[in-house]
Amino acid sequence: MTLPETVLPGDSLADSRPGAQWWRTAVIYQIYPRSFADASGDGVGDLPGVTEHLDDLRTLGVDAIWLSPFQRSPQKDAGYDVSDYCDVDPLFGTLPDFDDLIEAAHARGIRIIADLVPNHSSDQHVWFQQALAAAPGSPERARYIFRDGKGADGELPPNNWDSVFGGPAWTRVVEPDGTPGQWYLHLFDTSQPDFDWSNPEVHEEFRRILRFWLDRGVDGFRVDVAHGLVKAEGLPDYSPDPESGSMGGDEANVPYWGQEGVHEIYRDWNKLLAEYDGDRALCAEAWLPTVDMTALWVRPDEMHQAFNFAYLETEWDAAALRDVVDESLRAYPAVGAPSTWVLSNHDVVRHASRLALTAENPQGHGIGPDSPGQPDPVLGLRRARAASAVMLALPGSAYIYQGEELGLPEVIHLPGEARQDPTWFRTDGERYGRDGCRVPIPWHATAPAYGFSPTGQSWLPQPEEWESLARDVQAADPASTLSLYRTLLAARREHRLGAGTLEWLDGYGDDVLAFRNGDVTVIANLGEAPVELPTADLIAASEPVTGGILPTDTTVWLRPA
Ligand code: GLC
Repeated sequence: MTLPETVLPGDSLADSRPGAQWWRTAVIYQIYPRSFADASGDGVGDLPGVTEHLDDLRTLGVDAIWLSPFQRSPQKDAGYDVSDYCDVDPLFGTLPDFDDLIEAAHARGIRIIADLVPNHSSDQHVWFQQALAAAPGSPERARYIFRDGKGADGELPPNNWDSVFGGPAWTRVVEPDGTPGQWYLHLFDTSQPDFDWSNPEVHEEFRRILRFWLDRGVDGFRVDVAHGLVKAEGLPDYSPDPESGSMGGDEANVPYWGQEGVHEIYRDWNKLLAEYDGDRALCAEAWLPTVDMTALWVRPDEMHQAFNFAYLETEWDAAALRDVVDESLRAYPAVGAPSTWVLSNHDVVRHASRLALTAENPQGHGIGPDSPGQPDPVLGLRRARAASAVMLALPGSAYIYQGEELGLPEVIHLPGEARQDPTWFRTDGERYGRDGCRVPIPWHATAPAYGFSPTGQSWLPQPEEWESLARDVQAADPASTLSLYRTLLAARREHRLGAGTLEWLDGYGDDVLAFRNGDVTVIANLGEAPVELPTADLIAASEPVTGGILPTDTTVWLRPA
């Protein structure tokens, strides 16, 4: 098939008619701003860097961008610790830079979703500073979760909860008079105190924040830790399974995940978004044990999408993938929502490495040089290309994480002194954390920092092997991962696969995923034995296919000859 070499500005990829609910079928590209493109030259990516590269994303063929946090923040958790929700952090630029970005994106038919972090703020947020300066029981403290400690002198934390990043979830403060005082809850780093969502003032403040960004033109929000805002009454003790993922998604009835009260918050936000024109959407980051539980976040009057982490966490196994696809295409439509699909993001081991791991690796733990089950990079990339070709053929909306279109692997050999994820520090290096999927991406093979930054600086070191993975090298190579993604995204749009329906095809064996979506037939061979293909025209292949035989770990898209 022929690909558009240049794409005209202004021709929208996603359906832009009012009420068309563009997010139902959209391909949404996650930008992790600090690692995407650095226009200022300080080694950290920024908003002008994103604006400069919008045409690359247009050519790739995405409908929308989700921007990980760019709001003002001390960057203790890479921006997920917000100190001012209504400003841009100077590291990333200014509010006018954001306005320029949104205008330039919209001019190209690309929508923008902003990250919203409502579970916690930074400890540098003015509210938390006021809380520290105020007395126990004051209205200032009531915006966060302060409690007296246990023990004779309150020297023990109020309960046994652990932080997602390791270590206790409580920190004791020193009261303004210098005495040891109350404790505050932080499900994440000590620098990320949890808001108390039973306080109406917190609701009011977040309505204001939503309006601030909606008024500036954002098309929606990705809601961080959307399952965590409400804590169980009385904050009962709870010990998670140490082998479960960091977001604790493996178990039901966790007193800080998935409490019934959170849904009321999203019903309220749903109404607020509906006051705005142009189909604005909410997407839940909610790590829950089952697809059915996650579907509760996207009931008709709540959010519009939820990340399908069950799909992301499914191993490279045909039967398991068939099951999770079936469950997703049952559970989400049952509540009137589209399914989403996702394989990578800034919190998980990149799928070009993850799919070849040979040992358990709980979410958030990351991999380093001495982790068990080291992935074979060749196998990992091969599987990643095959997996992406399956994902992008599924009906619904798909999320792509920056760099996966280049086939980037997890960076395993990052020096300890370069690592910055709070997980690494809070576990004394026992868990590597998430830096390996956050390394700045390569644009030009021969430029300093592979074109990430004009000065050659990069906040995390880029591996030498990335020269050959740079976007300019791949753009010129029809066999590259970038060319594969472009072909898949163009065909997905042409054949309207996002809006299609899936029909499984029998007769290919247990290790094969075979389905039809509209006039496209997708066959993925996850087994070792070669598979004979039907006579058809090839739209795309994740690896070269010759003689009508589909080799192992390969996906093809076919159409009737
Ligand atoms: C979400 C983010 C993650 C962050 C955490 C705390 O899981 O995706 O990066 O560390 O929330 O905000």
